[in-house]
Amino acid sequence: MENKNITVTSPLLPPLEEFIPYLKDIWERKWLTNNGNYHEELENALCEYLKVPYISLFTNGTLPLMVALQALRITGEVITTPYSFVATTHSLWWNGIKPVFVDIDPLTCNLDPDKIEAAITPQTTAIMPVHVYGTPCDTLRIQEIADKYGLKVIYDAAHAFGVEIQGESVLKAGDMSTLSFHATKVYNTIEGGALVCHDEQTKKRIDYLKNFGFAGETTIVAPGINGKMDEIRSAYGLLGLKHVDEAIDRRHQIATCYRDRLIGEKGISFISDVQGVRHNYSYFPIFIDAGEYGMTRDELYFKMKEKGVLGRRYFYPLISTFSTYRGLPSAASANLPVATRKAGEIICLPMHPNLLDSDVERILSIIENR
Ligand SMILES: Cc1ncc(COP(=O)(O)O)c(C=O)c1O
Repeated sequence: MENKNITVTSPLLPPLEEFIPYLKDIWERKWLTNNGNYHEELENALCEYLKVPYISLFTNGTLPLMVALQALRITGEVITTPYSFVATTHSLWWNGIKPVFVDIDPLTCNLDPDKIEAAITPQTTAIMPVHVYGTPCDTLRIQEIADKYGLKVIYDAAHAFGVEIQGESVLKAGDMSTLSFHATKVYNTIEGGALVCHDEQTKKRIDYLKNFGFAGETTIVAPGINGKMDEIRSAYGLLGLKHVDEAIDRRHQIATCYRDRLIGEKGISFISDVQGVRHNYSYFPIFIDAGEYGMTRDELYFKMKEKGVLGRRYFYPLISTFSTYRGLPSAASANLPVATRKAGEIICLPMHPNLLDSDVERILSIIENR
């Protein structure tokens, strides 16, 4: 059907009939949340799939960011990127931490390691980078800087489910990494998320923090919050794991098709490939150079929209421009020239496993026939 809207994303939904037996089982057990069987099973299955030793499930991808900061007792100032989803910076604000924005690398759109050191002050306690679009940050350089200044590193890996570099999970970098399993992500539990850490004691502390601080029937060891994932979504997540590889394969095919066709288009560029990466193809971002392409990003975005193709200007506007943050000295656009330019050029094309070849063709012909 020519006129149906093509959405930027569409959830990976497992076949309904495969989910019913899980629901029947949950109804029989009458155990809905608080470390149920499926919760336990999903944590174990995700450790195996993601090749990491410790994972704590959460009810969304924002709470693990907030809890990671609590678990590591981060205070003062944290260096972060303005080119992300707003939850990254909000997690700092909710912990009473001052975000310090540092510009991004034009090739990957990730925090630029060359610019981090100049932003460190005596109040800096951590760095919070984001693996934007699932492209790994320069984790080695960032760790070198963190070690030199005694800083913690918390990666917002919301986009980086299953991403590996030289056969190693990118989630192993830094002190902790967070994941989002929101419905729009490569892998989803409808709403959901996780916090990845590297030792048993830290995992225990995270588990206390996500359950009000309870360390026993009558013992509260920290001002915890309620971040628990329930049994229904844990079961859904277990089932989703069986289908996620197929979904990533389809995303790969679509990304290849987009890239092969658009590579010769004047004024369109992509994120640079990082050597040795197993990507998850979570997004397909393109950047429009208006002078070369002959049309501004917004003109193309609205033309696509008019024709029923819903791209997303992700990430635009920059977090540093929102009212909560724009008064910070580091939020000035003169401090963030690359991020400011990229935010004005970006469109994420529709990318999800339910896209048909004919959808991809329709999207490409709008971009090609300007
Ligand atoms: C980079 C980034 N961080 C954090 C989040 C927050 O995750 P959630 O929506 O699961 O709370 C998202 C979700 O869109 C995200 O893209």
